[in-house]
Amino acid sequence: MAKIEVKLAEIPEGKNVTFKWRGKPLFIKHRTQEDIKREQATQLSELRDPETDEQRCPKPEWLVVIGVCTHLGCIPIPDMGDYTGGYYCPCHGSHYDGAGRIRKGPAPTNLEIPVHVFNDDGILVVG
Ligand code: FES
Repeated sequence: MAKIEVKLAEIPEGKNVTFKWRGKPLFIKHRTQEDIKREQATQLSELRDPETDEQRCPKPEWLVVIGVCTHLGCIPIPDMGDYTGGYYCPCHGSHYDGAGRIRKGPAPTNLEIPVHVFNDDGILVVG
């Protein structure tokens, strides 16, 4: 299956960029120190689908998720919704946080994280 290579230097800090990968939107967010602190401080007990920020973002500056709502498959909107730096799905009102974790609304699970690796040369390979 096709892989996608992304030059991380082209994504400014604080910005989410949407790519297309295997026919789906792929969100890559360059998180700020503030984003990272906020997500790492989230208690697992607050989460419907408990995963730590460290589990989701082993390289904390980068969030890599499939941009498909886990409710019924709409495309969430970056930097919208009730959670700063998160994602909002307008179809039925699901709110995801800045680690792509479901926080509010009907979606049952967190945004999916695809298999990916960070190469030493600043290239992210997804797939
Ligand atoms: Fe996203 Fe229903 S498809 S909330």
